[in-house]
This record gives sequence, C-alpha cells and structure tokens, in this order.
Amino acid sequence: MTPQKLYEGKAKIVWATENPGEVAQQFKDDATAFDGKKKGQIAGKGARNARISAVLFRLLEENGVATQLLDQIFDDTLLCKKLDMYPVEVVVRNYAAGSICKRLGFEEGARFKAPLLEFFLKDDSLGDPLVTDAHIAELELVSGEELAEIKRLALKINSVLTGFFAERGVMLVDFKLEFGKDREGDIILGDEISPDTCRFWDANTKKKLDKDRFRRDLGEVEEAYAEMLKRVEK
Ligand code: TMP
Ligand code: ASP
Repeated sequence: MTPQKLYEGKAKIVWATENPGEVAQQFKDDATAFDGKKKGQIAGKGARNARISAVLFRLLEENGVATQLLDQIFDDTLLCKKLDMYPVEVVVRNYAAGSICKRLGFEEGARFKAPLLEFFLKDDSLGDPLVTDAHIAELELVSGEELAEIKRLALKINSVLTGFFAERGVMLVDFKLEFGKDREGDIILGDEISPDTCRFWDANTKKKLDKDRFRRDLGEVEEAYAEMLKRVEK
C-alpha cells in the first residue's frame, strides 16, 4: 500500500498509517522564514529535529504533560496520536527576542519579570497575527476553559524545559507550542519542539543555536542543530 500523504507543511509531512487514530510526522530538511518568503534547506535538520523533539516530548511525558508522541519509527519520522489541532500557536517567552522586540521595543535579551504568553492565529493568508483572549473568544478558536488549561500546560512545559536546558548550558529564550484535542477530549501537546520552534542561546557565550542562524544568515546553521542534538542527548 502506498502511504497516503494527509498534509504537507513547510517543515513536515503528515502521513496516514494503517491505524486511523495515528499519523506519522516526517520532518523535512526544508526551512522557510518570514511567512515562507525566505526558503532554503538545512542538511540533516529533519532527522535532528525529529530526535530532539522525541527526547523533549518524552521528558515532558515523564513530567506529567500528555503529548502526541507514540514512537520514533525512522530517523526523521515520529509516530503520533492523531489530534484535532487548535488553530493557534502558543508562544512562551523568557527573554525578549524576535517579533516582540519589533512590536514593543524590547531590547534583545531583556529578561521578562515572568514568562510571557502570546497567542498567534494560524492563518498564512493573514500572516499569523497575534490574537488576544478576547479575539480567541470572539473567533471561537478555543473555549475559555480550554484556554485556561492551555496556559497552565504552556507554563508547566516552560518550567520543565527551562530546567532541562539550564543543566545543558542553554538559555531557553522563547518557544512555540501547538495543542490539540484527542478523541477523549483531552488537551494534548502536538507538533514539535526543536531548534525550528525555539530560540536557544548558549548560556556562556549567548551564541544562537537555533533557526535564527538561518533566518538572519548568521552561518554555521547545520552546526547549531548538531550542537543542540548533542546537548539534548547528553
Ligand atoms: P517570534 O519572535 O517570531 O514571534 O517567534 C517566537 C518563537 O516562536 C520563536 O522561538 C520561533 C517560534 N516560531 C515558530 O515556531 N514558528 C513560527 O512560524 C514563528 C513566527 C515563530
Ligand atoms: N516557519 C515560518 C515561516 O516560514 C516562520 C519562522 O519560523 O520564522 O513563515
């Protein structure tokens, strides 16, 4: 049987499996930035991100956060529970970087008093705009009760990951999460956590070890992904 492609995104392909409750997520070497305006390839990224995401999802499971991950079935492919995804991206920020610097004038690297949560509507045609709780309610993207649970989970994930990376000499500057609902109606962490979806800085040198090296043409892009895999597997 030829595998059936359910969806192809900028960095992943989702394949159907023989089990209707499960999908296989294949991580690609393709990279895009700025709403797909910048395109490229990062050699070895697919396999490295699949591995990094698998390790981090297992760590979160061990800490009581339910995730979509079932198994790593190929170097670049994770078997996952099928979820009904919410159309929002949840960003957690510990230090200022990226869009919040442009939007609100923070200096890059400024530490927030408390982790900052932001929500973005997943809609390429609108450029994934920031949405407030009121927008989320008006657009009926997530119910009030679900939003409270998503916020609780995002902060829990932040505290688990911040500690894990600190032990590995990495500052977790910010990251993006996506959640979905399973057949039982439980809210589950989906998608990925990788250098594509996080900002990681070396704690001593502040060297960027994530996709910003690609976004901003900083060089040593592959090396950054390799370095983060090494630290995650330490
Ligand atoms: P931002 O500063 O561009 O808003 O990004 C915040 C974090 O979210 C950063 O770690 C990168 C991640 N991110 C994604 O994973 N996907 C995206 O499409 C964008 C814009 C950011
Ligand atoms: N992947 C996103 C895009 O292509 C943005 C990013 O990660 O910078 O728009």
